[in-house]
Amino acid sequence: MRILLLGANGQLASDILRLWRDQPGIDLLPATRAGADVTDLAAVRALVERTRPGVVINTTAFHNLPLCEQDPATAMTVNVVGGWNVATAAREAGAAVVQFSTDYVFDGEKRTPYLESDARRAVNIYGAAKIATEDAVRIANPDHLIVRVSGLYGLAGSAGKGGNFVETMLRLAREGQPIRVIADQVTAPTNTAHIAEALLPHLRDGLRGTVHLAADGETSWYDFARAIFELRGLSPDCQPTTAAEFGGPVRRPAYSVLGSERVPRLPHWRLGLERYLREKHGPLS
Ligand SMILES: NC(=O)c1ccc[n+]([C@@H]2O[C@H](COP(=O)([O-])OP(=O)(O)OC[C@H]3O[C@@H](n4cnc5c(N)ncnc54)[C@H](OP(=O)(O)O)[C@@H]3O)[C@@H](O)[C@H]2O)c1
Repeated sequence: MRILLLGANGQLASDILRLWRDQPGIDLLPATRAGADVTDLAAVRALVERTRPGVVINTTAFHNLPLCEQDPATAMTVNVVGGWNVATAAREAGAAVVQFSTDYVFDGEKRTPYLESDARRAVNIYGAAKIATEDAVRIANPDHLIVRVSGLYGLAGSAGKGGNFVETMLRLAREGQPIRVIADQVTAPTNTAHIAEALLPHLRDGLRGTVHLAADGETSWYDFARAIFELRGLSPDCQPTTAAEFGGPVRRPAYSVLGSERVPRLPHWRLGLERYLREKHGPLS
């Protein structure tokens, strides 16, 4: 399978590269923004025509939430137009497209995991852009797989968000500051290594349509932070707060756990966290 991987410097793409590179039958072609800006259809077309992939994976995104609210035009251009361009260029070349999406396409009103068939209703610009991205990809290329994921952290750190939640918590603990973490938003933070490992067999099996790939279990960001500190043997001053108290310009869903009616869930979020901390920082406490 010849695969063009867009967004190759990102945290999810870095784990796809790391974990698929030596897999039998996989010919992986990484491309960064320098290879093609996804907002430029001619550049994306030229890249796809040059590399002749059977599958194009689009991990690119504009997904810094406050920036999306401040600059909705860029949020729509990079996510929606970018997704459309990639899916269109793939279709023209006879290739399938894999588009990553998010738990933030949901409004957070449920209290059981969201399934692929649940109705989407965004509560912020990023979520609205990703709903439109999903629709644009479906329209542009019938041979598509839309993969919704949640709360990513990976060894490379998110390019678009300047790191990841785990590293932010470890830095705050090192600095000795009091830490306040939101306890009334529940999700399933997911190690990008587990997504990479689960996705490959699904691609080999020809899975298409929309699918959720997220860690098993669920946790608030506060309990996730406590698990990080416990596993590293740290005991900072860490207290729970609410989204309302914490403030900030962006509304987020209170509950955005992703379940699936199509595929097994990934390993439990705590196993993902343990693996990440071992691989990034050495043996656990
Ligand atoms: N991070 C999360 O918590 C999370 C949660 C749910 C869903 N997702 C989705 O999962 C996917 C992967 O996320 P991630 O955390 O791995 O992202 P990431 O680390 O921020 O990587 C995104 C990559 O996209 C590239 N990019 C951005 N704009 C581009 C453009 N116009 N043209 C070409 N490349 C461009 C960036 O390149 P530069 O380095 O050059 O900017 C970056 O390498 C995204 O679709 C995201 O929406 C993420």
